[in-house]
Amino acid sequence: MIKRLLKRCLPGVLACFLIFCGFACRETSTGVQKEDGVTIVFKHGKIPGDAEHFRQLLHQFEKENPDIRVVSEALPSSTDEQHQFYVINLDANSADFDVLSMDVIWVPEFARAGWLRDLSSLLPEAERRDIFPGPLKAVTANGRVFAIPWYIDAGLLYYRKDLLDGIGARPPATWGQLVRLAGKITKNSEGIYGFIWQGKQYEGLVCNVLEYLWSHGGDVLEDGKVVLNSPENIAALTLMRDLIAKYRVSPPLVTTLVEESSRHIFGNGRAVFMRNWPYAWNIFQRDGSPVKGRIAVAPLPAAPGKSSASTLGGWQIGVNRNSRHPRAAERFVRFITSPKSQKILALTIGYKPTRRSLYRDPDLVRHQPFITGLHDIFMNARPRPVSPYYMMMTQVLQPEFSAVISGIKTPAEALASADRQIRHVLGDER
Ligand code: GLC
Repeated sequence: MIKRLLKRCLPGVLACFLIFCGFACRETSTGVQKEDGVTIVFKHGKIPGDAEHFRQLLHQFEKENPDIRVVSEALPSSTDEQHQFYVINLDANSADFDVLSMDVIWVPEFARAGWLRDLSSLLPEAERRDIFPGPLKAVTANGRVFAIPWYIDAGLLYYRKDLLDGIGARPPATWGQLVRLAGKITKNSEGIYGFIWQGKQYEGLVCNVLEYLWSHGGDVLEDGKVVLNSPENIAALTLMRDLIAKYRVSPPLVTTLVEESSRHIFGNGRAVFMRNWPYAWNIFQRDGSPVKGRIAVAPLPAAPGKSSASTLGGWQIGVNRNSRHPRAAERFVRFITSPKSQKILALTIGYKPTRRSLYRDPDLVRHQPFITGLHDIFMNARPRPVSPYYMMMTQVLQPEFSAVISGIKTPAEALASADRQIRHVLGDER
């Protein structure tokens, strides 16, 4: 009798159990199935290199916080595409994700729109003093902190130390020296590019161009006024175009490159110089990397008599104002941006800490001696205009800069047009 009952009911019981499981257990970042507590969703850009270290860190959080599960969801690496995703979803009051990683240029816009929780209490005064000034300024509005700086970026010049040593050369201090060295080395080596950088029409291009403008003494804004149409900026853009069309040290292919595609070319030993962010260093120095032990980094070159300039980049962690689990989300933010996590991420993925004291950490310095030199580059890195309207400005700049490096517009034409449009965006019509 019992047997017959079991036989008849078992499929139904099983089905109910499976349905329950479908609702109650979601796959976590670690692949572990758990049944109680809250689940928070963490959205972030694609992790470069080996994502396993990142998964292990999330697993560590779940171990230390058994009542919280983290579902990690990766968006594409492109900052522009991620921005689009967030604007659409946050504007529609989505509660589908709790924690988000944000490019340094978006926080003023997101905070102003009211999309982020105030996280001031997560960053006590003493800790604020330890954070690099650039990202701290970007996440602060009216004295309140809307995101916690997670990792910092600044443009660097990667170079093949073996090839420069081979001709007894030091890394170039001026753009002219870079052109000469790149020309000299590529003349004797088949299939190797001189200098590669990010020239596709996207945010990364603006980061690259700004480094040329600043290192020629130019700028976009000065005291809030648009100063794009200047002789310094014309000289800077002319040089970028000439790298491709006149000196031929950068292949036309740079107009299609982003961070990862340029990293692959340099990482396969096919370029003498590359401009990129610091994350690439760890990947180049991994076992099996064709350039392991043959590369080094230096500050970007400048025009004669001017100073080198790196664009400030980096990512910050915030909490969606519509999160249904704000307390759990805040515990996760505290964990993932803590000194301990930042150190692990620096050693593994290569994300550089936003906390300055870590640049004196003996382990970090031993494994990545170049990190000590990065501290000053990060202190001096120059921010893109910190404004809720930055995304409108970059949407004007991207096609204009792209038109110059592709040879469609002259630097003077593009700068005059961008100047006019950005004045309009900012209401600075002179
Ligand atoms: C990096 C930087 C970010 C920048 C982006 C451009 O991710 O951290 O600030 O906007 O590159 O591609």
